[in-house]
Amino acid sequence: MRFASITVLSALGASLAAALPTELTEFFLVTSDQSEPSTNSSNLRGVHATTPFAEDPVSQSTLLLRLIGAGYNSLPNFTLADGVLSTITQGPHGIGSYRYNSTAVTAGSELQFVAQKQVSGNVGLNGGYLVTVDGEMEGWTICNSESGTDVLYWKGKGSDCVSTFLHAVTKPPYRKA
Ligand SMILES: *[C@@H]1O[C@H](CO)[C@@H](O)[C@H](O)[C@H]1NC(C)=O
Ligand SMILES: *[C@@H]1O[C@H](CO)[C@@H](O)[C@H](O)[C@H]1NC(C)=O
Ligand SMILES: *[C@@H]1O[C@H](CO)[C@@H](O)[C@H](O)[C@H]1NC(C)=O
Repeated sequence: MRFASITVLSALGASLAAALPTELTEFFLVTSDQSEPSTNSSNLRGVHATTPFAEDPVSQSTLLLRLIGAGYNSLPNFTLADGVLSTITQGPHGIGSYRYNSTAVTAGSELQFVAQKQVSGNVGLNGGYLVTVDGEMEGWTICNSESGTDVLYWKGKGSDCVSTFLHAVTKPPYRKA
């Protein structure tokens, strides 16, 4: 009986690990130069993990998504419902945890999250893994924020902006199996 349940659990784990992106519920957001998916997010060309970031750490009223390199401890994950991306993160001064929701994405602005209910949004998943805005998968850019951090914009216009694709992946990159 005990063995049976362990087998069931490990089979579940294996099927989750191998799951197609379309089966994602909680996922991590990563940027990559390629639009094609990879079963191993570490192998996405030019991959970068992302994490919510407050340009103003005191108020934390709006969170952006910044790129983060190898060596992070843990990464927050995201869900998508009604065109709104959602993630749970700590509040100001690390106190409490709040569900931040993405606001309607507009050209020339960062992907933004606020600790408020959003009735609907314009974010989708193409093929179950490629993050879109109004159905468009091309337009994500990595640009310098005011504080000089690499953050995600939709159709950023700055001369420092670099085009990217935003992938929803089951496992964050740079991790060993
Ligand atoms: C996603 O984040 C939630 C809240 O922090 C956590 O409970 C859950 O285990 C995470 N899921 C994955 C797949 O990492
Ligand atoms: C974010 O949206 C979810 C789903 O609509 C909602 O339950 C949650 O309360 C919202 N977050 C905040 C801080 O209002
Ligand atoms: C994913 O790819 C990375 C880099 O090629 C490799 O180190 C890692 O072992 C791979 N993970 C799995 C689960 O295959």
